[in-house]
Amino acid sequence: MTISTAPFDARQLRDVFGTFVTGVTVVTTRDAAGVAQGVTANSFNTVSLEPPLVLWSQALTAKSFAPFRDSPRFTVNILADDQIGISNNFARSREDKFEGIPHHNGLGNVPILDGVAAYLECVQVAAYPSGDHMLYIGRVERMAQGNRRPLAFSAGRYMVAHSCDLEASYYQANALEPVPLSAIRRVSAALPAVAEQLGGHTLCLSVWGNHGPTAVHWEPSSQPVSDQLFSGLVMPVTRSATGLAFAAFLPEAVTQAFIEEDLRQSSVPGEDLASRRQRFTEALAEVREQGLARMVGTTPSLLHKVPVHTFSAPIVAPDGGMLMALTLAASATRLDADWHGQLPGALLAAADTLSAQLQA
Ligand SMILES: Cc1cc2nc3c(=O)[nH]c(=O)nc-3n(C[C@H](O)[C@H](O)[C@H](O)COP(=O)(O)O)c2cc1C
Repeated sequence: MTISTAPFDARQLRDVFGTFVTGVTVVTTRDAAGVAQGVTANSFNTVSLEPPLVLWSQALTAKSFAPFRDSPRFTVNILADDQIGISNNFARSREDKFEGIPHHNGLGNVPILDGVAAYLECVQVAAYPSGDHMLYIGRVERMAQGNRRPLAFSAGRYMVAHSCDLEASYYQANALEPVPLSAIRRVSAALPAVAEQLGGHTLCLSVWGNHGPTAVHWEPSSQPVSDQLFSGLVMPVTRSATGLAFAAFLPEAVTQAFIEEDLRQSSVPGEDLASRRQRFTEALAEVREQGLARMVGTTPSLLHKVPVHTFSAPIVAPDGGMLMALTLAASATRLDADWHGQLPGALLAAADTLSAQLQA
């Protein structure tokens, strides 16, 4: 730990403040001329239960400072984890921030954003000048809560808030059924025979866990592609065949925040986030068309010491919902990466058979 005493270097102060993980809100109001105002703020916090009070603070330099200072009301919109775009939209100073943003009017005509995790409609009861910010206290008059997972923010980056355990509520919130252990056991038990049919390559069985695509069983190969393949391994959702399969076949609400996080983490020199997202969207379309995912390895990776090709096929429940991913991995020298090669078709057929066996 580095101990620092005031006066502080501004960068260091931001970094230390940034270690505190917050949610992300858009605070809205309507100015005296009736113009909607909104600003992204993570300074929101709760103050009191009785009476119900909350706070947030605004930079004195913000364009919308005077409207917020002079308005009798504000509404705190607590963003859901798929609303990073909304957060970025309201974090930029520009004229009509509300254009194209679905919203409706609440108390005092103050805008409420659609699709938020929760909102609190407040009357401004105090405003305290505090250094370079104004601290506002609001009394909550009305509020609403949906079942969306909130967006989180720390160290200048958006984050996905995962519970530490696989709570039932996570699955309920995302309309997902936890994969029954009995199904995982049945498929795992069938894998040695499947591996034999598929040329003895490494097979991995994964489920969607609370951190994303998670390996629950490996069927080793006589020619292993890595010595680091263990159960519990979480695979990157945009950069692995297993992740791509889940991203293509699970509901978007389940995977969206993980995809955004992974796209942000996976920087490629010379490629910006928008192009990365575009490339990923194209890859997903291809996966949906082919019915299975592919990752073509051209260089060794952290996990694999040699270039590895992987294909991943969904194992589905009777209602068509994806339960698990069956992934085949082999050294690029031993596996044809062609979509129409013999092995991808055989993998797809094996996953279909396993799905059918689970339904029996
Ligand atoms: C995640 C996040 C949190 C922010 N939190 C605050 C905040 O609490 N208070 C604040 O004044 N600005 C905050 N900002 C910056 C404002 O959103 C930004 O300065 C905005 O452009 C101000 O809008 P305006 O100039 O149109 O009023 C935050 C930005 C981001 C991305």
